[in-house]
Amino acid sequence: MSRRNLDRPILALAPMADVTDAAFRRIIAKYGKPDVMFTEFVSCDGLCSSGQKNILPILKFTKKERPIVAQVFGAKPENFYESAKLIKKLGFDGIDINMGCPDKKVIKQGAGAVLINNPKLAQEIIRQTKKGARLSGGQAGEMPVSIKTRIGYDKYDKKEFKKWLTVLLECEPAAITIHARTKKEMSLAPPHWDIIAEAVKIRDEFFGDKKDKTLILGNGDVQSVADAEEKARISGADGVMIGRAVFGNPWLFASEKKIMSFATPFAARRREKSKFSAENYVSRATLFSYEQSKLENKKYSCGANDIIFFRDLKLSVLLEHTKLFEKINKGQNFDVMKKHFKSYVSGFPGAKELRIKLMACKNAKEVELVLKNYHYLYVAIASLR
Ligand SMILES: Cc1cc2nc3c(=O)[nH]c(=O)nc-3n(C[C@H](O)[C@H](O)[C@H](O)COP(=O)(O)O)c2cc1C
Repeated sequence: MSRRNLDRPILALAPMADVTDAAFRRIIAKYGKPDVMFTEFVSCDGLCSSGQKNILPILKFTKKERPIVAQVFGAKPENFYESAKLIKKLGFDGIDINMGCPDKKVIKQGAGAVLINNPKLAQEIIRQTKKGARLSGGQAGEMPVSIKTRIGYDKYDKKEFKKWLTVLLECEPAAITIHARTKKEMSLAPPHWDIIAEAVKIRDEFFGDKKDKTLILGNGDVQSVADAEEKARISGADGVMIGRAVFGNPWLFASEKKIMSFATPFAARRREKSKFSAENYVSRATLFSYEQSKLENKKYSCGANDIIFFRDLKLSVLLEHTKLFEKINKGQNFDVMKKHFKSYVSGFPGAKELRIKLMACKNAKEVELVLKNYHYLYVAIASLR
């Protein structure tokens, strides 16, 4: 049975500003699609102002990315109402309210994680968003409204957490994603996954038989699908959201068979020189030990073929991603794309030198040239052996 036919755990791609933009989402949709994707967050105030035209490009998506949820932040309920109407009109499958962002600029507006300290406003925001999501325009019916939050503001306190979660459950959002850290812990301290099990228990008690009214997704430091499944099993969560582990790893959600299919064109190229097939290019065991080693934070020990496979795959996808970024984000700062270079270019001989050259590039053409030169150099060295 394919992962997409499985109801639980739901695997979601986390919203990440300047990372999960339209270009990266399209790459992920092609190489390893999760069950649901979230856009990076956009400001409700911005959407309801003359600045809307600058924000709409961030909300561009293709059918292949669906189901896709738009994430918004803000502190004015009336702007959530208007934004929900707009997001529904744009054809999104859901709208997610950010109640977890620790960024100073967001907190200053009374938005993001600080809403944990303002339950009345948080509820009003959810209600207005639901009202906007019910109105016609775009698809028929009600567009699901979900929340992404944290386990607390300054500290984790079981009683306070229960109170906060209950505030959210009273509004019956379609889902609540809980980043298992407080706002104060940012993304640094180890996540408290035991609290996700607590959240599931609170939800079950709150709804009784109707617990599907609000799904609980856990989030924080999940490294792979296997890791997500294990954490969902232990916590009882309906789903798991994964963020940073997808950097330079857009096939994170892909099945083993799909990853094998990526090896075929590279193997074909090398077959001209020696007897190579996709199967002996990269073995099943290799893929799993690679995932496992990341999970256990160990250095991955692998054979030369495996290194070549991951290098070839990463560099070819890096170029595809860069070209797509440039095509979609005409005029946007190219440095945003460079965030990905470090993640794609690692774990193989010469990666550091290559990275330095790539960081000096100003556009996709220059990136292509650097990669070509690297390839020629690599082949030349290999032929001397
Ligand atoms: C670069 C970056 C940008 C982020 N932007 C957002 C955002 O726009 N909205 C949001 O709710 N969370 C955002 N987050 C938090 C992630 O969604 C996620 O909760 C966090 O990274 C923990 O999950 P992980 O350990 O799987 O990465 C961001 C995180 C990173 C690293």
